[in-house]
Amino acid sequence: MDQQIQANTTMKHVQPDSNYMSGFGNDFETEALPGALPQGMNSPQKCNYGLYAEQLSGTAFTAPRGQNERTWCYRIRPSVKHTGRFAKIDVPYWKSAPCVDPDVISLGQYRWDPVPHSDAPLTWISGMRTMTTAGDVNTQVGMATHIYLVTESMQDEYFFSADSELLVVPQEGRLRFSTELGVIDVEPKEIAMLPRGLVYRVEVLEGPARGFVCENYGQKFDLPGRGPIGANCLANPRDFKTPVAAYEDRDASSRVVIKWCGQFHETFIDHSPLDVVAWHGNYAPFKYDLRTFSPVGAVLFDHPDPSIFTVLTAPSGVPGTANIDFVLFRERWMVAENTFRPPWYHKNIMSELMGNIYGIYDAKPEGFIPGGTSLHNMMLPHGPDRDAFEGASNELMQPHFLDNTMSFMFETRFPQHLTPFAATEAPLQDNYVDCWDALEKKFDGTPGTK
Ligand SMILES: [Fe+2]
Repeated sequence: MDQQIQANTTMKHVQPDSNYMSGFGNDFETEALPGALPQGMNSPQKCNYGLYAEQLSGTAFTAPRGQNERTWCYRIRPSVKHTGRFAKIDVPYWKSAPCVDPDVISLGQYRWDPVPHSDAPLTWISGMRTMTTAGDVNTQVGMATHIYLVTESMQDEYFFSADSELLVVPQEGRLRFSTELGVIDVEPKEIAMLPRGLVYRVEVLEGPARGFVCENYGQKFDLPGRGPIGANCLANPRDFKTPVAAYEDRDASSRVVIKWCGQFHETFIDHSPLDVVAWHGNYAPFKYDLRTFSPVGAVLFDHPDPSIFTVLTAPSGVPGTANIDFVLFRERWMVAENTFRPPWYHKNIMSELMGNIYGIYDAKPEGFIPGGTSLHNMMLPHGPDRDAFEGASNELMQPHFLDNTMSFMFETRFPQHLTPFAATEAPLQDNYVDCWDALEKKFDGTPGTK
């Protein structure tokens, strides 16, 4: 055996997870049975295995090539067999914009403790608690933010939202999304994206499960342009994982719940709609491990705008002005010299909803705890509290590793309106606005730092 081969036998070889395909917005192809995927064409006269060919269009047919998304599905039954007549149902805690309650004040700085679990059995649908809404679901503009509390798996029950894609940010517990296009398992430090119109069932792998959801009514989330950063860092496309094809051939009385123009409907069928045996295309769910996000930041002085930490951005039609930015604040080195290192004081035309996944957020060492939420609405000032300000103003300017921290922001160009749940039932910290009370006037007209 020569040296070269000997060396190879000791090489560590890590197999990628074969349940997922790598890449962002790729044109994927996958089949759960050999030969189920037609080759060289989309719609043969007869499909293999007696499957039906069906296109799922995520964008208008004529959307520009760079935005055009569709997937061809080869399924046991066409989707027309997965719905019947619809009946409206009440899902009281899942709200859609516009949801402006005259008795609720949304003007202010707000912070909530984690919404606690209750004894009530809650599924993905009944456990969704809307915190804020923005824009208008009927014109496909804006978004909603939710906290989910899930203790029960959906059984013979399926869901899809025609209104929105759902960005899921787990904070506690593990969930399985069994979708038409494959299976995604997620846990804290990961996110999942469920495209508009995709049918799925949510199961609890480890409960109770709690997390955050951003419901995007508008144009799909995309990777941000990196500009002068170049071709690498931030979220890298290879770290996005789309599931391989998986299907169920199961006859059972089943309920399908549909969110459509802010209203919920049910319909009953006699089989599982998760029957796609093979598919190809670029309109598909994915997950992403937030630990693979490569932050870029200040290496000499000043604190960059938080947009430097954008993971995904959903455009609004106005260049550079997002319907939603999903921004991640994670572990990183702080090395800037002669600099106030935490986030500066700020007043913003954009509305910022933050959630804490784990650890301590540097601008608010106390009060913003894992599972908690804060909202700094359009043109409402915010920034470090007194302790954070004094600490950062007087710390030694040495390299410092910001450890044990992962928070995120859903930032939108539209004002966010609190739901009655957020204003009255969720654990609102009434004293949050007082966190800036202790900030002192230092100015006395004489020069010099104070
Ligand atoms: Fe801000």
